[in-house]
Amino acid sequence: MRSDRGNLTSRLVAAGSAVLLGLAGAAIAADPASASGHHPTPGSAGLGDRLYPLLGNGGYDVQNYDLSVFYPKKDPAQQVRGNVTITAVATQSLSRFDLDFGGDGVGKVTVNGRPAAFSRSGDELIITPQRPLDNHRRFTVTVSGFTATPISPNANSPAGFVTTPDGTIMAGQPDQSHQLFPSNDHPRDLATYTITMTAPVGWTATANGQPIRTTQRGGYVTSTYREFHPMAAELIQLAVGDFVTVNRAPVNGIPIRDVVPRRLADKLLPEAADERNEVAWMESKVGRYPFERYGSLVIDGDLGFALETQTLSLYDTTWFSLPTVILNPVLTHELAHQWFGDSVAPWVWSDVWQNEGHATWYEVLYAYETGTLKEYAGVTTLDDYYKRAYANGDRWRARYGPVAYPLRSDSIWDVFNPNVYDGGALALFALRQKIGVRDFERLERAWVAKYRGRSASTQDFIALASRVSGQDLRSFLNDWLYGSKTPPMPGHPDWTTTAVSSSAVAPALHR
Ligand code: ARG
Ligand code: ZN
Repeated sequence: MRSDRGNLTSRLVAAGSAVLLGLAGAAIAADPASASGHHPTPGSAGLGDRLYPLLGNGGYDVQNYDLSVFYPKKDPAQQVRGNVTITAVATQSLSRFDLDFGGDGVGKVTVNGRPAAFSRSGDELIITPQRPLDNHRRFTVTVSGFTATPISPNANSPAGFVTTPDGTIMAGQPDQSHQLFPSNDHPRDLATYTITMTAPVGWTATANGQPIRTTQRGGYVTSTYREFHPMAAELIQLAVGDFVTVNRAPVNGIPIRDVVPRRLADKLLPEAADERNEVAWMESKVGRYPFERYGSLVIDGDLGFALETQTLSLYDTTWFSLPTVILNPVLTHELAHQWFGDSVAPWVWSDVWQNEGHATWYEVLYAYETGTLKEYAGVTTLDDYYKRAYANGDRWRARYGPVAYPLRSDSIWDVFNPNVYDGGALALFALRQKIGVRDFERLERAWVAKYRGRSASTQDFIALASRVSGQDLRSFLNDWLYGSKTPPMPGHPDWTTTAVSSSAVAPALHR
């Protein structure tokens, strides 16, 4: 979720909008040897995602990452060094393949234990094994001695591997995690992770998932975490530095732990306390929490957004300086992402409305059901909230593109745009009006159950909505998700959307 001042102010005063925030295939098909998968060819440099063409790579499917990173000193800005062993299955016969990597250097690469040739081109690490890799076969690739240097965050940069006053953390969404480590950095390829961090005694290290072991030797502490559930590279978290980890009482058997800068622990920990209620509330809405644990990571700084890193959502002190009636729905937003966006990942980045629309839906619903919607958004009912969003519908579509088709990706705010957040939630409201609350709630539960641990597309959502409701919703949802005009709201024929005049498509709509 976005936290730039203009948007927050508009939330607080509830003024105006409530926005916070081929070709090769044809050639291959003509070649009988390739068609049968025997003739090795290079894996593609990207997955063909319209918004991020070079993100991810073709020709293999990662099963597991075993990543270790070494932090030589207690210096947030230092270069770190790491090794990663990736276990993958080839999905074509491969003469060579790419990993995504934008760090400083690469020491050595082996494939199935044998040295492999490699070169770098932009953020592509191109690896040529000594022998081609057979289609459908499992292989391992190890990149050892890679190096990377964190950047200092600022509200205009997409962040990534960043410094804080207390150490370094990850904010990799959507295309930055490979600045730290070689990976298949697209949410279509989920994998399990073992993450090992070695840092000087006195620093602590936390990552996604379950703590496995901590050992100490020669002035360094080595901490190992295991994410047993499939995870996209963009959702990785390695928080290393002068942090403390504090456990709370479990909720329905789910361990809760928070990670905060030591210096600010007494102030920040009480403010995150509502997360336990939110976990219980979300489970009552959509079913079992999908991962092994949950909690909040708060950093001393201003990132400009909060982020749903898997099992440990990331916030900054800007969020944590807000009143709890504002903060609690934001905590619920990031928690909701654990189901919507993390456990069920987008097939392409144009499907990001699935993440943000649902997270906004539960954020607003939580404020409503806890009696704080008025203070949160300046309206008292869900109808009022979505009527106001509806008024913005056509302007958002004109400026950013349809809900499921962001026009641009020059800045992350072109992709994570208001029509994806409140516009996505508005499309869900329209669907709920159309199929009724009961079927809508059944759909939400069915979606997170059916696609748990996988990527799913907008067409998958439309198909499931049709199946659960017993109605053919293809034209209804295609209009809502891909139309350049806001369709009529079922049940509210009187709702109007502000006309788009050339002056209304102002570049400063949300600034
Ligand atoms: N997915 C985040 C949220 O909770 C937004 C993050 C936008 N920034 C970014 N670097 N991806 O809304
Ligand atoms: Zn979000």
